[in-house]
Formats: sequence, structure tokens, C-alpha cells
Amino acid sequence: EKGGYEHFMIKEIFEQPRSIGDCLRGRLNANEGHLHLGGIQDYINKITNADRILIIACGTSWHAGLVAEYIFEEFCRIPVEVEYASEFRYRNPVVGEKDVVIAISQSGETADTLAAIELAKSKGATILGVCNVVGSSIPRATHAGSYTHAGPEIGVASTKAFTAQISVLAMMALMIAHKKGAIKESVYRNLLLELDAIPDKVAKCLDLNPQIEIISEKFKNATNFLYLGRGYNFPVALEGALKLKEISYIHAEGYPAAEMKHGPIALIDENMPVVFIATKDGSYEKIVSNIQEVKARKGQVIAVVTEGDTEIGSMADHIIEVPAAHEALMPLISVVPLQLLSYHIAVMRGCNVDQPRNLAKSVTVE
Ligand code: F6R
Repeated sequence: EKGGYEHFMIKEIFEQPRSIGDCLRGRLNANEGHLHLGGIQDYINKITNADRILIIACGTSWHAGLVAEYIFEEFCRIPVEVEYASEFRYRNPVVGEKDVVIAISQSGETADTLAAIELAKSKGATILGVCNVVGSSIPRATHAGSYTHAGPEIGVASTKAFTAQISVLAMMALMIAHKKGAIKESVYRNLLLELDAIPDKVAKCLDLNPQIEIISEKFKNATNFLYLGRGYNFPVALEGALKLKEISYIHAEGYPAAEMKHGPIALIDENMPVVFIATKDGSYEKIVSNIQEVKARKGQVIAVVTEGDTEIGSMADHIIEVPAAHEALMPLISVVPLQLLSYHIAVMRGCNVDQPRNLAKSVTVE
């Protein structure tokens, strides 16, 4: 059932070219400029006219929501707020009929997310679901939605569900942006081609596995890790840190790189590994100076960079080169080496990667 792999987690990481492909199939035809999510068709006018989009989720799904916030705001020009389901439901949130709520959940059974949906629904909001498990409670509670089609995810640490969630959310954003006339046709067409190219690029990231195993060996005894990214890669930093802590039990924090100087920089010394997600994008020059700040304090830098990058190579202790992509879709690529890094470190530490202590695959308690 593990298809020759030692754990479900590594099997699921390696499935991603296929699972993202399955998610795009039948919805995206990039060469013909065609994109269609049938599940939200009936609500498309409601969404394009929304005053605001509220994204509600927990854990890794919440990280996918943060990536979606950047994509929706950039291309649809609709304000987006991303909320932890547990926080949303226990305050007195301002929600109304012109709000569209997108609930993201792999399992479709997360109790806090389900309760947040019921609350938003009672206030008249339109609720869309982005779920993996077909027929689960959340898709049944929503008005409409799109499945991620990643296939069953058995490893407790979410991997392929995360990339499928971002794929669906990117398609949703582009479909709405196009319908709304908020995006230039050439930009739209280019993004469809970029999306279509993602499965092959993820496959190239998987070829980095042996190199990442060697890096993991060097850091397996670390007690702390910092993950830093900016822009579209900021949520990837959060996700990289979450993956490491949940399966290897190493304390890790993800931060927006520019926030480092407001506190976390105090932690940096020669024993602190810092993972930078520093692919070529709008914040590249800024993140290069953040790397210099860490090196000046003797931190150990592992940098995920775009193939062919020459600048960071001379500063970082280890570089992981990933294929170039449109910055809005980069999280689909830059997260893969971080999944592999956490996997190998956890295995080397003798941890039970598929069933980490204290965690359950779906959190049905509040
Ligand atoms: C992280 C992880 C959890 C889940 C969270 C939400 O690897 O597995 O953080 O992402 O419990 O679960 P779903 O997406 O099923 O609502």
C-alpha cells in the first residue's frame, strides 16, 4: 500500500506531480486558454461581486489560505482575510451577505472549521469549500466548492493536500479574476501556462531528494530552526517550520524575513540553522540582504533558490536550486524541498513520521 516507499509521507511527497496533475485535469486547458471549475459555476456572479473573501482553515490548510490571499488580492482585487477557524468562531466576527467564505480542509472533518462555517452561514455569507475527502462533513455543509482530488492522504503531516489546495485556489482566483475583467488577458494566458507546467517542475524538485538527504544529515541534531520567506514564500516558511516541528519534534519557527530584525535575530548564532526561501521574485534583493544579516551573525544558512542563481550561492552554506516559475505559483515548488528536509531529519532522528506523537489526522474535537 506504500507502493515500495518506506513511509506514507514520502510516498505522498513523491505523488505530487501526479496529484497536482489530477487536480488540474479536466479544469485547465492552458493551450486553449480554458479554465473551468464546475463546482463554483453557480456562484460565480456572487463571488465576482463579493465585498470581501474570508478564508477559514486550520494548520497547513490555513497556510494554503495565506498563499491564496496573496493570489486573490493580486489578480482579483478583492480584499481577503485569512482566519484561523478557532479564532473566528469564538469572537463576534463581522460577516454578512456580501461576504464569500472559502473553507479549506483536507479531511473535511475539522471541528473548528465546520463550526466556523455554520456561524458564517447563519449570518448569510456564501460558503465555498476546498476539500480533499469527497462526501465529508465540510463539503456537505457548504453551498458549493471544488475538490482537490489529491487522493487519500494517510501520513498525518499534510503534503500533497497542501499543493492541491493551492492549485485549486489558484484556479479559483484566476477564474474569478478573468470573469471580473480584473486581469489582463496576456497575464491570464501566461498564468494558465505556468500552472500547467507545475507538475513537471515539482518532479524536478523531487530529483533533489539525494542532495536534501545529505543536508538533512548535517542538521539532524539541531534543537532549533528558523524559516524565513517574503511575499508568496512567507506562508511557505510557516509551512516548512510546521512540517519540521510536527514530525521531528525540533522547535522551528517561520517568520516573514523582514520581521527578523524585530526580534528573532537575537536568536542567531553559529548553532542556528536558518532556512531561507529565496527564489527570484519581487522581494529577491530584500531577502539577499536578510541572508547577509544572518551570515554576519554566523547563522547556518540553507537557501532554496531559483536554478542558476549565482548571488546567494556565495553566501549560503547550502543551496537547493529549484526550477523557476511565476512568483504566484512558486509556493507549489518551493515547499517541496522543505517537505523532504523535514521528512529526512525526522527519519534520521528515529521518529514515527507517519504518526507523530500527540497528533491525529483529523481533528474532530474543538
Ligand atoms: C499539518 C496538519 C494539520 C492540518 C490541520 C487541518 O501537517 O496535518 O495542521 O493541516 O489539522 O486539517 P484539515 O485540512 O483536515 O482541516
